[in-house]
Amino acid sequence: MEKIAEKRRIVLVPFPAQGHITPMMQLGQALSFKGFSITVAQGAYNQVSSSQHFPTFQFVTIPESVPVYQKESLGLVEFLMKLNKNSEARFKDCVAELLLQNGNDIACIIYDELMYFSEAAAKEFKIPSVILSTASATNHACGCVLSKLNAEKFLIDIEDPEVQDKVVENLDPLRYKNLPISGMGPLDRFLEICREVFNKRTASAVIINTASCLESSSLSWLKQELNIPVFPLGPLHITASANSSLLEEDRSCIEWLNKQVPRSVIYISFGSKAQMEAKEVMEMAWGLCDSNQPFLWVISESLPEEVSKIVLEKGYIVKWAPQKEVLGHPAVGGLWSHCGWNSTLESIVEGVPMICRPFKGEQKLNAIYVESVWRIGFQLQGEVERAGVERAVKRLIVDGEVAGMRERALVLKEKLKASVRIGGSSYKALDELAKYLKTE
Ligand code: UDX
Repeated sequence: MEKIAEKRRIVLVPFPAQGHITPMMQLGQALSFKGFSITVAQGAYNQVSSSQHFPTFQFVTIPESVPVYQKESLGLVEFLMKLNKNSEARFKDCVAELLLQNGNDIACIIYDELMYFSEAAAKEFKIPSVILSTASATNHACGCVLSKLNAEKFLIDIEDPEVQDKVVENLDPLRYKNLPISGMGPLDRFLEICREVFNKRTASAVIINTASCLESSSLSWLKQELNIPVFPLGPLHITASANSSLLEEDRSCIEWLNKQVPRSVIYISFGSKAQMEAKEVMEMAWGLCDSNQPFLWVISESLPEEVSKIVLEKGYIVKWAPQKEVLGHPAVGGLWSHCGWNSTLESIVEGVPMICRPFKGEQKLNAIYVESVWRIGFQLQGEVERAGVERAVKRLIVDGEVAGMRERALVLKEKLKASVRIGGSSYKALDELAKYLKTE
C-alpha cells in the first residue's frame, strides 16, 4: 500500500466574532483539503464546534479568556487590549499541551491579526507563524499607516481641509479623511492598538481574504511595506465553504424568495453586530414599503405591531438568513449592506449591486471601494429618512442607472470567480501558501 505522507498540523486562532470566525474556518477547510491537520484554539465564548461540519478538526479551548460580551461595555479597543494581555500565557500553556499530546507536529500557527498574543507562543516554541487578515488589503494598509501616526499631531493636522483631502501616499483613491478611525473611541488608544495589531512581529507571512483583481494597488503597497510574503487567496467562501454560523439560519426566506420576480428583491443585512436606533428602523420600514419593491430584511429588533403588519405585506423579515444562498438567488436584485468585508465579497461573487450604509471603521473603506473604485453601488449618506430610502431602493432596483452598476458587478463577479479557478491568482496564492507551510 502506498504510504500516506505524514499530515502536518496547523493551529488556527480565530477572533470570536462571526465576521472573523467564518473566513478562518474556511481557510482551515482549504488547508485541510491540501493535506494539513487542523486544530482550532479558541476562547470559551462564541465557540465553533466539530458538530458544525468540522468532524476532522481538533478543537481546544484557551482557558479563562475575556467574555465576548465585555466588548460592548469596554469598547473594541480596550477589549482587544485586555483579551491579548490575558491570553498570552494561557495560549502558551495550550500550545505546550498540544506539543506534548501530538508530538512535535505543528507546522504553523495562523492567527487572526486581532489575536496578536499568539505570536509569543510561536516565538517561545520556535513554531512559524502567519497572520490572517479577515478584512480588506486596503484596511491592512491603512492600519500600517495609522500605526505610524502621532495622535496629538494628527488630530491638529486633520483639521486642515488640505490635509483631509490629501491622498494617502500610494494608496489612491484614499484620502487622509478616509482613514478608518471613526467609531473606534479615543484616537490615542486606537493608534496604540493599531501598533499592536499591525506589527508583524516574527510572523513570516500575511494571508488576506481578498483577490488581486479587487485591490491590486493596496496589495502591491503591502508587499513593499511588510517585506514578507503576502497571500491574497480570497474569496475564501468560494474556495472552501464552511458552515460556521453562530446563529441558526432561518431558511423559510428561501421559499419566500422562490415566489418573487427575478431581480426584484432588495436584501437588507447589516452583518452580525449592527444595532440601529428605533427611529432609523422606522424610517427604513416606511421607506421600504413606499418603494413598492419586495424586500427581505435581516433584523433582530422587533417592530411595533402596526408597522410590522404593513411591512409584511411587501417584505419578509428574518433574524438570521442563509446569506450566501440569498445573494445567489435569482430573485435578489440588490443588497443594502453595512459593507462588512465578508458581505461585500459575498455580494460581488454573486454580481449583486449594493446600497452602502457603513457604520464605522473599515466598513467605510469598503463602501468607498464599492462606490468609487468598482462602481457597483452607491452610498446612502446623511440621516435615514423614509423618502431617501424609497429613492435609494428604486435607484438600485428599478432605474436604468442600475444597469451600469449591475453590468460592472457581473464583470467583477466573473473576474473574481476566475481568480479562484485553476491558474487564477487566488488559486495560485493558496497553492503557494500550502507549499510555503510545508517548507517553513
Ligand atoms: C466585521 C466587519 O464589519 C468586517 O468588515 C470584518 O471583515 C469582520 O468583522 P460583520 O460586521 O459581522 O464583520 O460583517 P461581515 O464581514 O459582512 O460578516 C457578516 C457575516 O455574517 C457574513 O459572512 C454573512 O454572510 C453572515 N450573515 C449575515 C449571515 O450568514 N446571515 C445573516 O442574516 C447576516
